[in-house]
Amino acid sequence: MSIVWMNGAFIDRSEAKVDIEDRGYQFGDGIYEVIRVYNGQLFTANEHLERLLSSGDKLSIQIGYSVEEFKGLLEQLIKKNNLETGIVYMQVTRGVNSRNHAFPAEDTPPTYIAYTKEVARPTEQLENGVTAITVEDIRWSRCDIKSLNLLGNVIAKQKATEADCYESIQYRDLTVTEGSSSNIWIIKDNAVKTHEANQFILNGITRQKIIELCRGNDIEVVEAAFTIENLIDADEVFLSSTTAEVMPIISINNVPVGSGEIGPVTRKLQQLFKDAIEQECNQLA
Ligand code: PDD
Repeated sequence: MSIVWMNGAFIDRSEAKVDIEDRGYQFGDGIYEVIRVYNGQLFTANEHLERLLSSGDKLSIQIGYSVEEFKGLLEQLIKKNNLETGIVYMQVTRGVNSRNHAFPAEDTPPTYIAYTKEVARPTEQLENGVTAITVEDIRWSRCDIKSLNLLGNVIAKQKATEADCYESIQYRDLTVTEGSSSNIWIIKDNAVKTHEANQFILNGITRQKIIELCRGNDIEVVEAAFTIENLIDADEVFLSSTTAEVMPIISINNVPVGSGEIGPVTRKLQQLFKDAIEQECNQLA
């Protein structure tokens, strides 16, 4: 039995129902966040919740809660579900209205949900790395908004799954943008590079943390677009996300990355990231 938070109340999951004319359900008209929980504590919650409010702003979805209020609610939810290691998923849609593409009246209340899920740290994959393929980025040009419109991402991930790979690395023209549910990084001659935070990628919270860790530890980091050729030619490649942390990519399109071994810069960033988690959420098992 698990408890979810829906429209201001904590209820049993079996009672949480969405109207067939909810705009999230009909149009993907909503936004979401996935926040990590380690040792029963939220990791980088402020950053995620600020991004949720910012996604809401960009789409004129009027969110009636502050970062602090949301955080308090999520902490209660984690306690009620006795969650130790996992995620909180939360979503806000533009609410329920008779179907019409244009926005409903301004006083239409959004639909809010949050639930928890047990998700272990992917320790085996963090140790041994994962594989990827490259796919064309067919998404819209507002990927900076964490919206429920995920069909491009879904199709990209399905292609990876069918190729027996963990992730799809998307490219627009010849520029690498991001993964289907992650940011992509290359390392060449010890310099770390990832696509700049513009409308073609989601500015990952993990991404921002890694940039901060590079800057604080004398690791050269550049936020700039790079090409497929740069990707293939990189010494090391990794992806980052809330659930995957700093995840080494060991082959792309069946070709080994660099020497085929997980490189020293990736290993260093994995350690720095783990230290950052432990600083905020106590020692990891
Ligand atoms: N995905 N880019 C895309 C398209 C993503 O969906 C995600 C996260 C990221 C990384 O963002 P962050 O570091 O804030 O998790 C980048 C989440 C985890 C998901 O949809 O499940």
